[in-house]
Amino acid sequence: MKLISCNANRPLAEAIADHLDCPLTDAEIKNFADNEIFVRINENVRGEDVFVIQSTSRPANDNLMELLICIDALKRASSERVTAVIPYFGYARQDRKTDGRTPISAKLVANLISSAGADRVLTMDLHAGQIQGFFDIPTDNMIASPVMVDDIMRRYQGKDLMVVSPDVGGVVRARSLAKRIGADLAIVDKRRPEAGVSEVMNIIGDVDGRECILVDDICDSGGTLVNAAAALKEKGASSVSAYITHGVLSNRATKRVDDSVMDELVICNTINPSEEDRKSKKLRILSVAPLLGEAIRRIANNESVSKLFD
Ligand code: R5P
Repeated sequence: MKLISCNANRPLAEAIADHLDCPLTDAEIKNFADNEIFVRINENVRGEDVFVIQSTSRPANDNLMELLICIDALKRASSERVTAVIPYFGYARQDRKTDGRTPISAKLVANLISSAGADRVLTMDLHAGQIQGFFDIPTDNMIASPVMVDDIMRRYQGKDLMVVSPDVGGVVRARSLAKRIGADLAIVDKRRPEAGVSEVMNIIGDVDGRECILVDDICDSGGTLVNAAAALKEKGASSVSAYITHGVLSNRATKRVDDSVMDELVICNTINPSEEDRKSKKLRILSVAPLLGEAIRRIANNESVSKLFD
């Protein structure tokens, strides 16, 4: 097996490599003066089972192009099989036509990855599970919840927990986590009058006196979580924390969280947080490297990956 890291999240790739005790393959991925991307794999990969690790996070287009060009280089170097390991799959929220004459960009990106030559995809907490079907190659969609459950069990033992979905679209994800930790479920009825703006309409469930845990796939501007936390506290929640797989964290989201009534924001390291974000007093980061590493090991050995969800 060979592991290659593009530039989006090298610390995660290094942690996966450590977990697998398999050094990252030497590769050069750089920009020419005009910003075009150049890739050179500095080791023989002929006949190898190669895993390219790259989140298509901000700058989404540059990171996507790095991934595509790297896959192309590997196929042309006669790799036997190339798996695109995409811990955070960007463009996933554009997964349907929301209006006339708009694209389905998630499908376009899936087509690009397959056309570049990827043989399979390993990703995590896709915004919508159906996006797996946008790929005509085998696609494993890991869930980060085992990592979150471990952390919640350690920190909240014996507490009166309520898992909260910050919108109706996240109910399945939140219910599954609530079941794993044996907690009740509440739902925030969120309205999005326009992209990037969210308003809480109602809370479904009695959160009075409960320790609330918001669960979501993405924290982008932080608006959804901050508004939900305020509404939950208003209804009597004794604490509100959030467990999020992908910390997209745009537009000074961590500042918004720091200034809010939310007690803690826990994200996974599918996206490498900036130095600025790491300074947030409410941010804590969980590593999904062992989980992704184990999935890679199982794919390489043709073992069951779904075992990791149990
Ligand atoms: C939307 O359906 C997602 O699951 C997240 O709730 C959303 O992307 C969060 O965005 P923001 O942090 O900007 O409110």
